[in-house]
Amino acid sequence: MAKTYYITTPIYYPSGKLHIGNTYTTVLCDALRRYKDLRGYDSFYLTGMDEHGKKIETVANENDVSPIEHVDEMARQTRELWDRLKISYDDFIRTTEKRHKTVVQKIFERLLDQGDIYLGTYSGYYCMHCESFFTESQLEEGNTCPDCGREVSWLEEESYFLKLSKYQDRLLQFIEDNPDFITPESRRNEVLAFIRQGLNDLSVSRTTFDWGIKVISDPKHVVYVWIDALSNYISALGYGTDNDDLFQKYWNGDEVVHVVGKDILRFHAIFWPIMLMALDIPVTFKLHAHGFYMMKDGKMSKSKGGVIYPDTLLKHYGLDELRYYLLRELPYGGDGLFTPETFVDRINFDLANDFGNLLNRTVTMINKYFGGSVSYNETGTMPVDEDFEALLKETPEAYARSMEDLKVSQAIKSLWRLISRTNKYIDETTPWILAKDEAKKNELENVLYHLSDSLRQIGIMLKPILLEASEALFRQLGVNEDKRDWDALIYGAQPTFNVIHKGTPLFPRLDVEEEVDKLKKIVRGDDDTIASGEEDLNLATIDDFAKLDLRVAEIKTAKPHPNADKLLVLKVDAGENKMRQIVAGIAKHYEVDALVGKKIVIIRNLEPVTLRGEKSEGMLLAGSGKNRMEVLEVTGLKPGDSIS
Ligand code: ME8
Ligand code: MG
Repeated sequence: MAKTYYITTPIYYPSGKLHIGNTYTTVLCDALRRYKDLRGYDSFYLTGMDEHGKKIETVANENDVSPIEHVDEMARQTRELWDRLKISYDDFIRTTEKRHKTVVQKIFERLLDQGDIYLGTYSGYYCMHCESFFTESQLEEGNTCPDCGREVSWLEEESYFLKLSKYQDRLLQFIEDNPDFITPESRRNEVLAFIRQGLNDLSVSRTTFDWGIKVISDPKHVVYVWIDALSNYISALGYGTDNDDLFQKYWNGDEVVHVVGKDILRFHAIFWPIMLMALDIPVTFKLHAHGFYMMKDGKMSKSKGGVIYPDTLLKHYGLDELRYYLLRELPYGGDGLFTPETFVDRINFDLANDFGNLLNRTVTMINKYFGGSVSYNETGTMPVDEDFEALLKETPEAYARSMEDLKVSQAIKSLWRLISRTNKYIDETTPWILAKDEAKKNELENVLYHLSDSLRQIGIMLKPILLEASEALFRQLGVNEDKRDWDALIYGAQPTFNVIHKGTPLFPRLDVEEEVDKLKKIVRGDDDTIASGEEDLNLATIDDFAKLDLRVAEIKTAKPHPNADKLLVLKVDAGENKMRQIVAGIAKHYEVDALVGKKIVIIRNLEPVTLRGEKSEGMLLAGSGKNRMEVLEVTGLKPGDSIS
């Protein structure tokens, strides 16, 4: 029976659009699961969304939607993003799903019954406005809130705690006994040092907000994020339910890997194994905590600007370009810098020059010198073959070792070493000179066969990394279906190559200056439209504009929205035989009375929506400055007049 492999990403917070940082982890896990599939494993890949907590509640509020509306929309967008990126996930767990909530509630009650969770008080400096606790060292000067600058006060709150201290020694022993439990080693040492300082019990509930899973036996408490979030790794497998087949198969299977960023190392290296120990669940997983992609000005974060979004790169450069860059550029155990220059260079040097060009030259030469078909030809053997074949033979092993160690960047490097060696083999054998001499026909065929077979093997090992290019390589080179798998990584496995008539370059070279400029603009973007990835490169046509039915409308009544502070509900006359209702986010900028009588511009044919229970049939146009928003007004025109 095939060995099992269970791999997970963190479940991300839907507090903002996912950026290339989150994308990195997701692509990394995708590459690893595809590698394991290539090795014949039966694998399962889980990702998802961590949808509870104060922050999410706040963001939803800011957007004038309910928390569930917000997370539904974010989950939808996220799944679409992963689909566009061809992420091969098997399940997408959301912590707001019933299948998850019931498991968390069960876990919580069990730990409570056992005495591993107890009721205590949580204290700290509290900001009323932000509804958050801070420690003394987090406060700004004059004991003010680091987020909003307001005064904070000392507050004590009832909270449940998880007894980490009770399991401290057992955990320490476990980590010492299992040297490869946490990788890289530097992270393992960090964790060990942290545990040796002594663990404080962890606050695991809150009474100050509602957006969370209720504690069954004490419903004024909601489970505070980590017990909720970490449980996803087993709730998704049906742990604790009538059907726990997946749990039995994968959690208690051969290999389990949690891949996370260094930011959430402790939660996974300390809280999670302790939770499992307390629940009598075997700690079967290995934890890998990778470093961060940084921008020149520092960290990337969903709430700050200066980030780069995967869609931007996908749209302008392509899926394999994005995957290659992300997987190649972050060094094992360290952080990496995302820069426009390295992005363009990687595409031009590694993908276009070294790899794409090699394939293109090979296909072209086979067409030119052999009418499209070359075969294994022992009579043409040359002295340089030996050295080349040696590397060809070593590479799968080196590549596999790196992949098994989750050193994907290193695995890619060993592939590119082979690519460079293959290019060098062309220089050494000079096929264009051999071609001039009819007597060297066998040598020439031998050379082209070597190139083809090396590329075929490169294609196999590229399958987890470059999804489209590996397929294109197989197609262009005419690699047989049954010579595309791991066990075909043997020189000579495919005796003949019938290449396609004319190969097309896989990776066109980019104009460095132009692309670096473009990317810099995108990264810089303090402009919202640019930072959101829908930057100016996305041109609208006159037809797009013509789709909008813009009309003058007069505001007849205006009142506050019953369920949202930022919204107003307007009734407008747009020259039709009935009033139209429009919900607009301008409450902070206008008194209701001042609006009545204004002649404004609306989009009349916008699809109607319901915003927090009020129907909106159209949208008004308004401009926004730094702290100001102004509704567009007209003077001479009358309701119903069209604008173009
Ligand atoms: O922490 N470079 O979610 P989150 C590389 N919900 N990876 C990055 C990155 C960067 N600049 N920025 C983020 C949470 N990541 C919790 C997790 S799990 C039970 C709960 C990746 O949305 C990296 O994997 O803040 C990091 O750990 C994760 O996104 C944090 O995502
Ligand atoms: Mg985070």
